[in-house]
Formats: sequence, structure tokens, C-alpha cells
Amino acid sequence: MTIGVVIGESKPTEVIAQSSRPLSVGEYVIIGSQDGKILGLVEKSAISSDALTNVRNFDEAVESKEVAEINSRDKNYKVKIGILGFLDKLQKGHVVIPAIPPLPGTSILEATQHDLGMIFGPVGNEWIKIGLLLRNSNIEAKININKIVSRHLAILAMTGMGKSNLVSLIAKHVATLNGTLIIFDYHNDYENLDVAKINYMMAKINPRLLPADKLAEVIELRENADKQQRVLRESLTDSVKQAKDFWSSLKENVTTFGQTTKGYADSASRVLDKIDDAQHRFSDILDPDCGDPVDLIKEGRVNVLNIAELSERQANAGLSYYLQELLQHRKESVWEKKGKSTHRKNYKFLAPISVIVEEAHVFIPKGEHTDTKYWASKVAREGRKFGIGLCVVSQRPRNIDPNVLSQMGSLAIMKIVQDDDQQQIASAAESLSKDLLSQLSSLNIGDAILIGQWVNLPSIVHIDEVKSRKSGSDLNAVSEWNQTDKFKDIAKETTQGLIQKDLLLD
Ligand SMILES: Nc1ncnc2c1ncn2[C@@H]1O[C@H](COP(=O)(O)OP(=O)(O)OP(=O)(O)O)[C@@H](O)[C@H]1O
Ligand SMILES: [Mg+2]
Repeated sequence: MTIGVVIGESKPTEVIAQSSRPLSVGEYVIIGSQDGKILGLVEKSAISSDALTNVRNFDEAVESKEVAEINSRDKNYKVKIGILGFLDKLQKGHVVIPAIPPLPGTSILEATQHDLGMIFGPVGNEWIKIGLLLRNSNIEAKININKIVSRHLAILAMTGMGKSNLVSLIAKHVATLNGTLIIFDYHNDYENLDVAKINYMMAKINPRLLPADKLAEVIELRENADKQQRVLRESLTDSVKQAKDFWSSLKENVTTFGQTTKGYADSASRVLDKIDDAQHRFSDILDPDCGDPVDLIKEGRVNVLNIAELSERQANAGLSYYLQELLQHRKESVWEKKGKSTHRKNYKFLAPISVIVEEAHVFIPKGEHTDTKYWASKVAREGRKFGIGLCVVSQRPRNIDPNVLSQMGSLAIMKIVQDDDQQQIASAAESLSKDLLSQLSSLNIGDAILIGQWVNLPSIVHIDEVKSRKSGSDLNAVSEWNQTDKFKDIAKETTQGLIQKDLLLD
């Protein structure tokens, strides 16, 4: 069906058209060019009225409105359409931009399921459906899950816009494909994830496996407490690491060091306090008898590692340990397959894995060194060779390390209004055009722009909502206050009852 006509000056990359109805930004259309069908994306859309242009006062506006209403030719729907390439080539996965611009007068046609289905919803078990095209809502939007593992992914949006929902959706699909996913859950967002093959656990840190500076972070010694740092360094000997009772043995060494080294008695006693404190507060997480924490991760499962109880520094120490080890496991696995000898016999993860880091701006920050950033960059650089994908999730893209962000081959970007966040994304993603970028502030919850390796073409989609997710929605403060008030009344009544009963008993 013809919905418009190319007007004005055409270019090989864009045309202007008059349309018969208002077209939505993000809608796909067909340009019926002389050389074959071309797929276009509406990038700008404007409506004007002849009668209501240059109106000088209210009375004139009211009169002009009446004129506009009876004149069927009054409205003017003008659109700018970006050219994405010849349709038949796009359907085969190739982008070919026409050498000659479409002639003015060329018809603009509505895109049909037949036109778009093969591009946005290709067949194959690596293509999973994650929603519908936002403006052509009869068309399924699929992503190539292989590319998440091989080329990494960033999910970026303001808070509450649907990042964790998308992660949950991906997790559900990975589970049905027997894949291995490791999610570091900083806010208990995935506690209730309804996935058949879920392995939910507390992230563990085995202090025996940490070097002294990392253990110092975990037990929260101050970074500039040089003397305390030295006490720990000197006390964490190989024999302590192998001792049956790690903590007692460490404390013995600390005590001895304090007694035998001049000027260190106070520092040693501070370190002892810190160790006691950490043992008490983090007994669930800091476990010298848990073996290798990586052994808790199961292959072929969605592994949710709860790091909510950890402080930022602890989570950083834990995360960097996991990333380093996971990369090593995958390297050994790939080397073994290639017949190269390995020094670690018990490597896990025979097949590729993907690691999801929420709050990426905290753990992989711009302009600051963290161990997680070091290992995340390494995974981003080497992951493709060794089958370990990294997915960074953040509501503050401007604070993520730009090097790591630019290594993410695919992006899902939801609503973002801050200019500096948008600029950071634009510089990390070449395929994000200015016009698409300008759409970011007008997206609604669950709407996303998908670009990069995991889609055939940049697309604006509405992501399916994972209904079984119980967390993530905003708290309803008013209703909870109301409940608390009721509880108070019940408590008061009960107390009064008890008092009266007591009086009666007296
Ligand atoms: N695709 C969607 N369709 C409809 N509603 C959605 C969609 N995605 C998310 N929501 C709604 O928005 C709420 C917040 O989503 P979600 O927890 O995924 O946001 P978030 O970006 O991860 O937030 P935060 O930055 O706080 O982690 C969900 O509870 C859900 O109700
Ligand atoms: Mg979230």
C-alpha cells in the first residue's frame, strides 16, 4: 500500500517524503525504487497545518482551526527516511546502499511481515525472540545469542527502565539452550527469577586464595594504613594459607608479629580487631573452607551469585577473582581442545560462558583503577578467542570505562535523558546515528534501541516483560506506610489488652 511519495532532493543515504498519514519515528517503510525495493527507517516526522501556520492571535487561531478541520488538504505530513539498504540483500544479511538516490516521485510503501520477518526475526536456534518492533508491532524482534557470548553486550538505561528485565529474558532463553550464564546480583534482583535451571547462591570469597592486599580490602583495612597492611602481608604466610584453621593461624602470626616487631604492637592489635570483625560480620561470605568458589558455579545453568551482602571493595575483590578464574578455565578448555598441554587438570566449562556484571559503573569505572576493571578489560579483549562473553549493565554509562564500553559489540539502550550519558554511548557505538540517539529520551519502559552484532539492523523494539519476575518494581511507600500503621494499631490493641489482662490478674 502506498503511504507516501519521495519529494525534494534525495541522497543515497536518505530521502524526504510526503506521507498520507503521520508516520512514527522508528517505523520501517519500503521505498519502491527503480532499482528494487529499499528498506528505510523513519528518522524524523513532522506534521504541519497550512491554516494554522503564522497565526497571530487567539481569535485567528480559533478561526483557522475551523478552516483546517474542513479542508482535507490542510495537513502536511513530512518525514525524513534513512536508507538502510536494498531489501533483498538485507534479507540475506548483506547491507548494500543504492549508488543512485531514489528518484523524487518514488512511492513509499508500508513494510509487510513478508518484507521484515526475515531481517528482524531470522530462523535458527541462535535467534531468540525478545520482543516486537516498537513501530511495526506485528513483527517479531530477535537477537543472535551467539553474539552475546562472542562479542559482548552492554545494557544501558536510566534506573527502572527494564535492564534487569532484559537480563532475565536472556537468562530464560540461555537456560532453555543449556547455556552457562553467571550473573553477579548486587541488588537481589534475580532472587526470584523463574528459570528451570537456576543455581542461586551467595558469592563466596576464600581468604586462603587471596593475596595480602586483596585480603586487606576484604577485611576492610584502610588503604593508607601502611603499618596494618604490612602486618597482614608479613603474617599471611604459606603455612597460614594451608593451615587447618586459617583464621586462628593468621591471628597467631599477627600477634607474634606485633610482639616481636618494634613499634607494631598497636597496628597488630588493630588488625586482630579487623579480622575478628570480618569473621563475625561476613561469616557467610568469607569462608576459608569453601574450596575454590568457582567450583560452586554449575555448567549448563543460570548461576546467580548474590553479592548484595558485600561492600563495594569486597564485591570488587570477589568479582575480579571470579573473572580472572573464569577466563583461565576457558583458556585451559580451549587449549586442551587444540591439543595444547594445560597445567590445570580440573578446568571446568567445556563450552562457552557469559558473565553479567550489573552496576558496571561501580566495578568498571572511568578514570580509576579497580581489579575488576583490569580483568573485565582482559575478558573483553580475549573473550572472543576463548568463549567467554561479558555483559555490562549500568544506569550511568558516562561513568563506565570507555575502553571496556567500546569493546561491547552489541548494545541495548533504553531511555536515557542525560546528555553526557548519551554522548558516551554515541562515542562507544558507531552504528548509533544522531537521529536514533535523539530518540533515547522519548522511549518508554521496556522500549530499547538494539544495535551491533546481535541484530541484522539497528532496531527499536519493545522488550517482552518477564511476568514471573517478582522484584524490580518500585516500592509502594504509601501502601506500606498504611500497612505499618495498621500493624501499629494491632500492636497497641494487643498491648492494651495485655495491660488490662495484667490488671485483672492483679
Ligand atoms: N519490557 C517491559 N515491559 C513492561 N514493563 C517492564 C518491562 N521491563 C521492565 N518493566 C517494568 O519496569 C520495572 C523495572 O524494571 P527493571 O527492574 O528491569 O529495571 P532496571 O532498569 O533494571 O532498574 P534498576 O536500574 O533499578 O536496576 C519492572 O518491575 C517492570 O514492572
Ligand atoms: Mg536492575
